[in-house]
Amino acid sequence: MPFVAQHRTFAGATLGAMGALVLACASTPAPPPPVVTMAPPRGEEPSAPTDLAPLRIGVYLPLSGAEATFGTETREGIDLAVERVIDSGGIRGRSIELVYADDHSLPRDASKAVLDFSKDPTLVAVLGEVASSRSKVGGIVADKNHVPMLTPASTNPDVTRVGPFVFRACFDDEAQGRAAARYLIQERRHKKIGVLLASDDLYSALLARTFREQAERLGATVFERRILTTATNFTAPLGDLQTQRPDVVYAPLYYNVMQDVFREAGALGFSGRDFFGGDGWDSDTLRKGAGATGAAFTTHWMLDIPSAENRAFVDAYRARYHRDPSSISALGYDAAALLLDAMKRASADTREAVRDALAHTRGFVGVTGTITMREDRNPEKDVFIARIEGGRFRYEGRVRSVPAN
Ligand code: PHE
Repeated sequence: MPFVAQHRTFAGATLGAMGALVLACASTPAPPPPVVTMAPPRGEEPSAPTDLAPLRIGVYLPLSGAEATFGTETREGIDLAVERVIDSGGIRGRSIELVYADDHSLPRDASKAVLDFSKDPTLVAVLGEVASSRSKVGGIVADKNHVPMLTPASTNPDVTRVGPFVFRACFDDEAQGRAAARYLIQERRHKKIGVLLASDDLYSALLARTFREQAERLGATVFERRILTTATNFTAPLGDLQTQRPDVVYAPLYYNVMQDVFREAGALGFSGRDFFGGDGWDSDTLRKGAGATGAAFTTHWMLDIPSAENRAFVDAYRARYHRDPSSISALGYDAAALLLDAMKRASADTREAVRDALAHTRGFVGVTGTITMREDRNPEKDVFIARIEGGRFRYEGRVRSVPAN
């Protein structure tokens, strides 16, 4: 079946003068992508017809498959940002259409989706994906076809290295590793740092390497212990780290591995405060799990970031979806808002002009921080520090993501 319409009903209040937000969802996208036009809500006059065609954006996400939660949460953030711009009058009198493609959490479908988008000349830009593995293959297709692509959440450095048309809205893993080192050494004054990394996981190995390089440049002593993500027992490496009496252990692991590490570390006499991690910890599993209490990590966003933009976002999100947003939703919201801001600033409604405007982003105020796009198409922005306390990720501080120093 080529097309699955995912109908959503809009509250009348979310539809402004520009008329209906148009959404389409192609499970296996084929050009031209199918579009579902939302009818104006009952009791509201159809908006004054505008003879200008809407500006169209292709969005490819894992809306089903292994990472469907990531896809759905990103979509919620994107929809909210687009609705807000439509409500405030659109862009130069034109409405916005989102054309969704579900890549089923598969790289093959991700590149196919971007290829289909690139063949449709009415699409000026592409948003997606969440996972770096799929953003990388999608980005290669976007760049080859000169379609500007902005990934909300893919942190692997390789993603934006494919070429001048591929951007990201989040910090990358190298910036994150460096920010962790700067925070622990310059703010927390730690001098002796253990690192627990998973050598079979690219994310973990890369964060550990950039952390170590930065930490040693700042004068700290670093010692490493390696684990495998497939291991079921971490007592030996944890015991080794313990005998060296580190001030803190940097553990750039995904939450599922970290959950087991916390359990065993607790039995060995470590406390949560002895550990510091990265955005792979950002999950309900660690937020609610007892062993993590007191630990902190670098991340993209948390509920209580003290900014007016974030408070407005959280209120709007709660009103629209009746629950709290996640970091992934916040990144989806910022990516869409950043792209729309570039489309407003673009000298023309063309792919090249939107690319150039994205590249010239300066001081864009988002909910995940203020973004200035660097020449390498990675943003300079804040890396937030979250402390796990009382089942919450509490805002502890922020470090500016800057190139290596
Ligand atoms: N950073 C992950 C990637 O690049 C995606 C992700 C972002 C996952 C934020 C969880 C939270 O693959």
